[in-house]
Amino acid sequence: MARILAEQVFQEPFTDERYAADAAKLTPCLDVRKGAWRRSSLAIDKLRMVCEFEAPDAEAVREAFRASGVAYERVWTADVYAVEDYPDAMRKLTALLGETTAPPTAAPAPPSESNDETTAAWNGVLFDKFVRFRDILTLGFTRHSDAALDRHPPIQGARVLDVGCGFGDVTAAVARAVAPDGFASGVDVADRFVQAARRDAEAHHIDNARFFRADVQKDDLGGPYDAVISRFGTMFFANPVAALRNVRTALKPQGLLCMVVWRKREDNAWVHVAETIVRDLVPERHDTGEPTCGPGPFSMASADTTSDILARAGFRDVSLLRHDAPVRIGRDIDEAIQFAMALGPAGEVMRLAGEEGERRKPTVIAALRQALEPYRTSEGIVMPSSAWIVTARA
Ligand SMILES: C[S@@+](CC[C@H](N)C(=O)[O-])C[C@H]1O[C@@H](n2cnc3c(N)ncnc32)[C@H](O)[C@@H]1O
Repeated sequence: MARILAEQVFQEPFTDERYAADAAKLTPCLDVRKGAWRRSSLAIDKLRMVCEFEAPDAEAVREAFRASGVAYERVWTADVYAVEDYPDAMRKLTALLGETTAPPTAAPAPPSESNDETTAAWNGVLFDKFVRFRDILTLGFTRHSDAALDRHPPIQGARVLDVGCGFGDVTAAVARAVAPDGFASGVDVADRFVQAARRDAEAHHIDNARFFRADVQKDDLGGPYDAVISRFGTMFFANPVAALRNVRTALKPQGLLCMVVWRKREDNAWVHVAETIVRDLVPERHDTGEPTCGPGPFSMASADTTSDILARAGFRDVSLLRHDAPVRIGRDIDEAIQFAMALGPAGEVMRLAGEEGERRKPTVIAALRQALEPYRTSEGIVMPSSAWIVTARA
């Protein structure tokens, strides 16, 4: 374990409410990375704070901040020297402060394990964005799920659950593979995705698929299932260990979990190029009250963190296989720019920045045009993406 320090800077004085909200987001992201908060020192003007953590390394704390959406300036590993370790200095301090002066204590609020905010985002603004860019997303995502299904083909006659099914195209593919005796179920926390998936399955006459709304972290998932599949549907839980434990209990003993999750953002130029540009040009805000997508698309990018989550959820035989695939984010540069500003971490920063984001849009568009140009091909703007195909046994 190492002692890690993180510095945060605030545009407006930090409040108790903001402290509770940030702690609720950060604590579960630290938990899964085996980190823990120790103490914080807040400047008297409440515009700057240094927090101390115990964690395996600085990257674990950085990842926890990123995954939780809590902004930070810098994170570094430190040797921390405390007055308690120096008896002479401690005696002086006690004399100076007097016995009655107790050090201030600010207990962090208990972490929120609720997915309510995430659900509101997926059922609202994110659903609308997914509808708008559905073709681009589905085509890009399918490259990864096809690779997963090729390696772990659903067995005819099996009962399979698709977690975070979205529009249900993977559920439908699985339903075809397990037909005529098998059955595919798609579960999603957002009602609008469930309705859309039902409509699509009906239109394509798939009668061995059903869709239901549930929060995978806490609701009954039916079952027992022979296998669970998920394409980019497991990275948004407030408590991933609880959610995956719930998934495990819905599986038969030895049942297979196969989930596709994004690898590190640096290998996902299709969203990361825009993210670096937007973070440079648009001030980040987390205090807007707007719902956010939850821990986020890169919350399972670390192989160590993800395998720990699965082990703690009771899975065994965990394996991760890297799968890279190009993604076309637009037929032309203008469509790619619209996509880049709407989705992924860049889209979240733009959305949360509100009017300020709108004001800076022309500058962002100009920078994106330049940055996306090298990815122009005869097929449109094509960029690298990279995922883990994660498997584990119940
Ligand atoms: C990135 S989308 C992926 C959708 C689909 N699997 C695909 O590949 O097109 C993530 C999905 O997970 C769903 N989701 C997020 N949190 C969830 C939860 N707690 N329980 C069930 N579904 C959830 C969202 O509503 C969304 O449809």
